[in-house]
Amino acid sequence: MSTSRPYDALRGFIASARQMVAFTGAGISAESGIPTYRGDDGLWNKYDPARFANIDNFFSDPEYYWSFFKEVRYPAISQAVPNRAHTALAQLEQKGALKAVITQNIDGLQQAAGSQKVLELHGNTRRIICLQCRQHQTMEAVHQRLATELPPKCPACGGTLKPDVVFFGEALPMDVMKDALAASQTCDLFLVVGSSLVVQPAAGLPLVANRNGARVVIINRDSTPLDRIADLVFHEPASEVLSAVV
Ligand code: APR
Repeated sequence: MSTSRPYDALRGFIASARQMVAFTGAGISAESGIPTYRGDDGLWNKYDPARFANIDNFFSDPEYYWSFFKEVRYPAISQAVPNRAHTALAQLEQKGALKAVITQNIDGLQQAAGSQKVLELHGNTRRIICLQCRQHQTMEAVHQRLATELPPKCPACGGTLKPDVVFFGEALPMDVMKDALAASQTCDLFLVVGSSLVVQPAAGLPLVANRNGARVVIINRDSTPLDRIADLVFHEPASEVLSAVV
Protein backbone atom coordinates (compact mmCIF):
# COMPACT_ATOMS: atom_id res chain seq x y z
CA MET A 1 0.00 0.00 0.00
CA SER A 2 1.60 3.23 -1.10
CA THR A 3 1.76 5.83 1.64
CA SER A 4 2.73 8.79 -0.59
CA ARG A 5 0.78 11.95 0.19
CA PRO A 6 -0.98 12.34 -3.23
CA TYR A 7 -2.28 8.76 -2.94
CA ASP A 8 -3.48 9.51 0.60
CA ALA A 9 -5.18 12.65 -0.70
CA LEU A 10 -6.96 10.64 -3.42
CA ARG A 11 -8.03 8.01 -0.85
CA GLY A 12 -9.45 10.85 1.25
CA PHE A 13 -11.31 12.35 -1.73
CA ILE A 14 -12.86 8.96 -2.56
CA ALA A 15 -13.79 8.27 1.08
CA SER A 16 -15.51 11.64 1.54
CA ALA A 17 -17.24 11.79 -1.87
CA ARG A 18 -21.02 11.38 -1.91
CA GLN A 19 -21.47 11.33 -5.72
CA MET A 20 -18.30 10.08 -7.45
CA VAL A 21 -18.19 9.68 -11.25
CA ALA A 22 -15.37 8.23 -13.36
CA PHE A 23 -14.62 9.32 -16.93
CA THR A 24 -12.42 6.97 -18.96
CA GLY A 25 -10.57 7.06 -22.26
CA ALA A 26 -8.31 4.80 -24.31
CA GLY A 27 -5.54 5.02 -21.71
CA ILE A 28 -7.43 2.82 -19.23
CA SER A 29 -7.45 0.02 -21.82
CA ALA A 30 -3.84 0.48 -22.96
CA GLU A 31 -2.65 -2.02 -20.34
CA SER A 32 -5.16 -4.50 -21.79
CA GLY A 33 -3.30 -4.32 -25.10
CA ILE A 34 -5.65 -1.96 -26.96
CA PRO A 35 -3.64 0.84 -28.63
CA THR A 36 -4.55 4.42 -27.70
CA TYR A 37 -5.31 6.97 -30.40
CA ARG A 38 -2.73 9.60 -29.39
CA GLY A 39 0.50 9.62 -27.45
CA ASP A 40 3.81 8.21 -28.67
CA ASP A 41 2.52 4.67 -29.30
CA GLY A 42 -0.98 5.76 -30.37
CA LEU A 43 -2.82 4.58 -33.48
CA TRP A 44 -2.46 8.02 -35.07
CA ASN A 45 1.17 7.17 -35.78
CA LYS A 46 0.19 4.19 -37.95
CA TYR A 47 -3.45 4.62 -38.96
CA ASP A 48 -5.16 7.97 -39.14
CA PRO A 49 -8.43 7.79 -37.13
CA ALA A 50 -9.42 10.98 -38.94
CA ARG A 51 -9.57 8.70 -42.01
CA PHE A 52 -10.74 5.30 -40.78
CA ALA A 53 -13.08 6.77 -38.14
CA ASN A 54 -14.63 9.43 -40.37
CA ILE A 55 -18.24 8.77 -41.38
CA ASP A 56 -17.92 10.27 -44.89
CA ASN A 57 -14.84 8.15 -45.62
CA PHE A 58 -16.69 5.12 -44.27
CA PHE A 59 -19.51 5.58 -46.77
CA SER A 60 -17.19 6.38 -49.68
CA ASP A 61 -14.71 3.58 -48.93
CA PRO A 62 -16.09 1.01 -46.44
CA GLU A 63 -13.38 -1.47 -47.49
CA TYR A 64 -10.67 0.77 -45.95
CA TYR A 65 -12.44 0.77 -42.58
CA TRP A 66 -13.20 -2.96 -42.61
CA SER A 67 -9.55 -3.76 -43.51
CA PHE A 68 -8.45 -1.72 -40.48
CA PHE A 69 -11.08 -3.56 -38.39
CA LYS A 70 -9.86 -6.96 -39.64
CA GLU A 71 -6.14 -6.27 -39.15
CA VAL A 72 -6.05 -3.99 -36.08
CA ARG A 73 -9.31 -3.37 -34.25
CA TYR A 74 -10.70 -6.90 -34.02
CA PRO A 75 -7.45 -8.68 -33.01
CA ALA A 76 -6.83 -6.11 -30.23
CA ILE A 77 -10.38 -6.04 -28.84
CA SER A 78 -11.15 -9.76 -29.14
CA GLN A 79 -8.05 -10.70 -27.10
CA ALA A 80 -8.33 -7.90 -24.53
CA VAL A 81 -9.36 -8.55 -20.92
CA PRO A 82 -10.05 -5.95 -18.22
CA ASN A 83 -6.97 -4.81 -16.28
CA ARG A 84 -6.59 -3.70 -12.63
CA ALA A 85 -7.80 -0.19 -13.44
CA HIS A 86 -11.12 -1.44 -14.85
CA THR A 87 -11.47 -3.83 -11.89
CA ALA A 88 -10.78 -1.07 -9.36
CA LEU A 89 -13.59 1.08 -10.81
CA ALA A 90 -15.97 -1.91 -10.73
CA GLN A 91 -15.04 -2.50 -7.05
CA LEU A 92 -15.73 1.16 -6.22
CA GLU A 93 -19.20 0.80 -7.77
CA GLN A 94 -19.83 -2.43 -5.83
CA LYS A 95 -18.86 -0.61 -2.60
CA GLY A 96 -21.40 2.11 -3.46
CA ALA A 97 -18.60 4.69 -3.83
CA LEU A 98 -18.94 5.19 -7.61
CA LYS A 99 -22.23 6.16 -9.26
CA ALA A 100 -21.30 5.72 -12.94
CA VAL A 101 -18.47 5.32 -15.42
CA ILE A 102 -18.71 7.66 -18.40
CA THR A 103 -16.52 6.14 -21.10
CA GLN A 104 -15.28 7.22 -24.53
CA ASN A 105 -14.08 3.66 -25.10
CA ILE A 106 -15.82 1.23 -27.43
CA ASP A 107 -14.19 -1.97 -26.13
CA GLY A 108 -16.77 -3.06 -23.51
CA LEU A 109 -13.99 -3.83 -20.98
CA GLN A 110 -15.54 -1.79 -18.16
CA GLN A 111 -18.71 -3.89 -18.30
CA ALA A 112 -16.57 -7.05 -18.57
CA ALA A 113 -14.87 -5.96 -15.31
CA GLY A 114 -18.31 -6.02 -13.61
CA SER A 115 -19.45 -2.38 -13.79
CA GLN A 116 -23.23 -2.00 -14.08
CA LYS A 117 -23.65 1.72 -14.85
CA VAL A 118 -21.48 2.45 -17.90
CA LEU A 119 -22.36 5.37 -20.16
CA GLU A 120 -20.81 4.67 -23.60
CA LEU A 121 -20.54 8.08 -25.27
CA HIS A 122 -18.97 6.66 -28.44
CA GLY A 123 -20.87 3.35 -28.64
CA ASN A 124 -19.51 -0.17 -28.55
CA THR A 125 -17.66 -1.93 -31.38
CA ARG A 126 -18.83 -5.36 -30.17
CA ARG A 127 -22.23 -4.44 -31.65
CA ILE A 128 -22.33 -4.34 -35.47
CA ILE A 129 -25.52 -2.91 -37.03
CA CYS A 130 -27.02 -3.01 -40.52
CA LEU A 131 -27.68 0.52 -41.75
CA GLN A 132 -30.64 -0.69 -43.80
CA CYS A 133 -32.57 -3.19 -41.64
CA ARG A 134 -30.97 -2.23 -38.26
CA GLN A 135 -30.42 -5.89 -37.40
CA HIS A 136 -27.46 -6.46 -35.01
CA GLN A 137 -24.57 -8.85 -35.62
CA THR A 138 -21.84 -9.83 -33.17
CA MET A 139 -18.27 -8.66 -33.77
CA GLU A 140 -17.15 -12.32 -33.99
CA ALA A 141 -19.75 -13.28 -36.61
CA VAL A 142 -18.82 -10.31 -38.80
CA HIS A 143 -15.10 -10.96 -38.42
CA GLN A 144 -15.64 -14.45 -39.81
CA ARG A 145 -17.39 -12.99 -42.87
CA LEU A 146 -14.40 -10.72 -43.49
CA ALA A 147 -12.36 -13.73 -44.63
CA THR A 148 -14.47 -13.92 -47.81
CA GLU A 149 -16.45 -10.66 -47.93
CA LEU A 150 -14.86 -7.18 -47.73
CA PRO A 151 -16.77 -4.99 -46.92
CA PRO A 152 -19.13 -7.41 -45.10
CA LYS A 153 -22.83 -7.34 -46.03
CA CYS A 154 -25.83 -7.86 -43.75
CA PRO A 155 -26.75 -11.59 -43.80
CA ALA A 156 -30.43 -10.64 -43.45
CA CYS A 157 -30.86 -7.98 -46.16
CA GLY A 158 -27.47 -7.50 -47.88
CA GLY A 159 -27.23 -3.98 -46.46
CA THR A 160 -24.15 -2.07 -45.25
CA LEU A 161 -22.75 -3.19 -41.89
CA LYS A 162 -21.22 -0.63 -39.51
CA PRO A 163 -19.90 -0.96 -35.95
CA ASP A 164 -22.30 0.67 -33.48
CA VAL A 165 -19.72 3.37 -32.67
CA VAL A 166 -19.69 7.15 -33.18
CA PHE A 167 -17.46 8.13 -36.11
CA PHE A 168 -16.04 11.61 -36.56
CA GLY A 169 -18.82 13.57 -38.23
CA GLU A 170 -21.58 11.69 -36.38
CA ALA A 171 -23.64 12.91 -33.43
CA LEU A 172 -23.17 11.29 -30.04
CA PRO A 173 -26.15 9.26 -28.69
CA MET A 174 -28.16 12.08 -27.14
CA ASP A 175 -29.75 9.95 -24.39
CA VAL A 176 -26.32 8.81 -23.20
CA MET A 177 -24.90 12.34 -23.42
CA LYS A 178 -27.86 13.65 -21.38
CA ASP A 179 -27.19 11.10 -18.62
CA ALA A 180 -23.43 11.85 -18.73
CA LEU A 181 -24.10 15.58 -18.46
CA ALA A 182 -26.46 15.07 -15.51
CA ALA A 183 -23.91 12.84 -13.74
CA SER A 184 -21.18 15.46 -14.33
CA GLN A 185 -23.41 18.25 -13.00
CA THR A 186 -24.41 16.44 -9.80
CA CYS A 187 -21.16 14.73 -8.80
CA ASP A 188 -18.78 16.00 -6.12
CA LEU A 189 -15.78 13.98 -7.35
CA PHE A 190 -14.95 13.56 -11.08
CA LEU A 191 -12.16 11.06 -11.76
CA VAL A 192 -10.58 11.19 -15.26
CA VAL A 193 -8.71 7.99 -16.17
CA GLY A 194 -6.64 7.65 -19.36
CA SER A 195 -7.88 10.40 -21.65
CA SER A 196 -6.00 13.12 -23.54
CA LEU A 197 -9.13 15.31 -23.06
CA VAL A 198 -8.90 16.78 -26.58
CA VAL A 199 -12.05 15.39 -28.27
CA GLN A 200 -15.26 17.36 -27.74
CA PRO A 201 -17.96 17.24 -26.49
CA ALA A 202 -16.75 14.48 -24.14
CA ALA A 203 -13.69 16.46 -23.04
CA GLY A 204 -15.99 19.24 -21.79
CA LEU A 205 -17.50 17.06 -19.05
CA PRO A 206 -14.65 17.49 -16.52
CA LEU A 207 -15.14 21.25 -16.86
CA VAL A 208 -18.89 20.88 -16.22
CA ALA A 209 -18.08 19.00 -12.99
CA ASN A 210 -15.45 21.57 -11.99
CA ARG A 211 -17.85 24.46 -12.62
CA ASN A 212 -20.42 22.72 -10.41
CA GLY A 213 -17.95 22.67 -7.53
CA ALA A 214 -16.81 19.06 -7.86
CA ARG A 215 -13.22 18.02 -7.19
CA VAL A 216 -11.50 16.87 -10.39
CA VAL A 217 -8.74 14.23 -10.33
CA ILE A 218 -6.83 13.31 -13.50
CA ILE A 219 -4.92 10.03 -13.85
CA ASN A 220 -3.22 10.15 -17.24
CA ARG A 221 0.27 9.18 -18.39
CA ASP A 222 0.75 12.42 -20.39
CA SER A 223 -0.32 15.93 -19.40
CA THR A 224 -3.75 17.15 -20.50
CA PRO A 225 -5.23 20.61 -21.19
CA LEU A 226 -7.29 20.29 -17.98
CA ASP A 227 -4.43 19.47 -15.59
CA ARG A 228 -4.52 23.18 -14.67
CA ILE A 229 -8.03 22.93 -13.18
CA ALA A 230 -7.58 19.53 -11.49
CA ASP A 231 -7.31 19.18 -7.70
CA LEU A 232 -4.95 16.20 -8.12
CA VAL A 233 -2.98 14.99 -11.18
CA PHE A 234 -1.17 11.66 -11.53
CA HIS A 235 1.02 11.24 -14.64
CA GLU A 236 1.30 7.51 -13.92
CA PRO A 237 -0.20 4.26 -15.25
CA ALA A 238 -3.89 4.01 -14.31
CA SER A 239 -3.66 0.46 -12.98
CA GLU A 240 -0.89 1.43 -10.51
CA VAL A 241 -2.70 4.47 -9.12
CA LEU A 242 -6.13 2.85 -8.89
CA SER A 243 -4.97 -0.47 -7.45
CA ALA A 244 -2.95 1.49 -4.85
CA VAL A 245 -5.91 3.58 -3.64
CA VAL A 246 -8.85 1.18 -4.01
N1 APR B 1 -2.41 4.80 -17.82
C1 APR B 1 -2.90 6.07 -17.86
N2 APR B 1 -2.94 6.80 -19.00
C2 APR B 1 -2.45 6.25 -20.13
C3 APR B 1 -1.91 4.95 -20.17
C4 APR B 1 -1.90 4.21 -18.94
N3 APR B 1 -1.41 2.95 -18.88
N4 APR B 1 -1.50 4.68 -21.45
C5 APR B 1 -1.79 5.78 -22.18
N5 APR B 1 -2.34 6.73 -21.39
C6 APR B 1 -2.84 8.05 -21.76
C7 APR B 1 -2.04 8.76 -22.83
O1 APR B 1 -1.09 9.60 -22.19
C8 APR B 1 -3.11 9.56 -23.58
O2 APR B 1 -3.12 10.92 -23.17
O3 APR B 1 -4.12 7.83 -22.31
C9 APR B 1 -4.44 8.93 -23.16
C10 APR B 1 -5.23 8.39 -24.33
O4 APR B 1 -5.61 9.49 -25.10
P1 APR B 1 -6.29 9.22 -26.53
O5 APR B 1 -5.51 8.18 -27.24
O6 APR B 1 -6.50 10.56 -27.14
O7 APR B 1 -7.69 8.54 -26.15
P2 APR B 1 -9.03 9.26 -25.75
O8 APR B 1 -8.77 10.46 -24.89
O9 APR B 1 -9.92 8.22 -25.22
O10 APR B 1 -9.57 9.76 -27.20
C11 APR B 1 -10.86 10.31 -27.24
O11 APR B 1 -10.76 10.27 -29.67
O12 APR B 1 -10.22 9.16 -31.63
C12 APR B 1 -11.27 9.52 -30.79
O13 APR B 1 -13.29 8.36 -30.51
C13 APR B 1 -11.93 8.28 -30.22
O14 APR B 1 -12.84 7.92 -28.00
C14 APR B 1 -11.70 8.40 -28.71
C15 APR B 1 -11.53 9.89 -28.53
